[in-house]
Amino acid sequence: MERLIIANWKMNPKNLKAAFVLAGSVKRYLKDVRGVRVVICPPFPYLAVVARQLKHSSLELGAQDASWEPSGPHTGQISLPMLKALGCGFVILGHSELRAQSGETDAMVNRKVHATLKAGLVPIVCVENAVQLIKDLRGVPRSSYAKIRVVYEPSWAISTAKGAKPADPKEVRRMVQKLDTIASPAVFLYGGSVSSKNAGAFLKKGMVQGFLVGQASLRPREFANLVKKAIFG
Ligand code: 13P
Repeated sequence: MERLIIANWKMNPKNLKAAFVLAGSVKRYLKDVRGVRVVICPPFPYLAVVARQLKHSSLELGAQDASWEPSGPHTGQISLPMLKALGCGFVILGHSELRAQSGETDAMVNRKVHATLKAGLVPIVCVENAVQLIKDLRGVPRSSYAKIRVVYEPSWAISTAKGAKPADPKEVRRMVQKLDTIASPAVFLYGGSVSSKNAGAFLKKGMVQGFLVGQASLRPREFANLVKKAIFG
């Protein structure tokens, strides 16, 4: 069974040098770790330096969003071919922060899922409920579901949300069971205030194969402990 941990750095750290140093620390802490796929998703301007830092390591590279258009008059957008050329194998799509702050709709996420699969990258589709997932996967052939990673990430559980607390692992299991009826055999992940302390419970009781991690991914030692929890429990 695949274990997968995605680091979503969001709009951090503050500068290029710090991004290079952070990627280097994560790489060192996870040097001898096997049996888990770890994907680092930095902001776009840091992709190239993080890619350089991750060379000759088992860590993989991902992006936090992508355009569904391959090129053309789309000011401010980043294309999937550009990301692929930088070494990205994964793209986070439909994150609740993009939905809330930039007006990302399910129709847009859906176009991005189609484009990402067509480009040969792995879509990491973030949803809060089953209806979103149905809309986000509309028209995607069932034969492609195995290539998709679905994250159940309730926005209220994200560490930076007001009064945030992680979801109850049993509630995560209930939701993942529901999402599984829609997108099986996709791989399911959980996101929202995941730490090295609570990761084990989600893996045991939540029926997930890994995590989408925000804050904890910016602290290399804590992140490495979290990754190790995913392997050893
Ligand atoms: P936290 O792990 O900081 O709660 O962030 C979750 C998240 O939004 C990952 O995409």
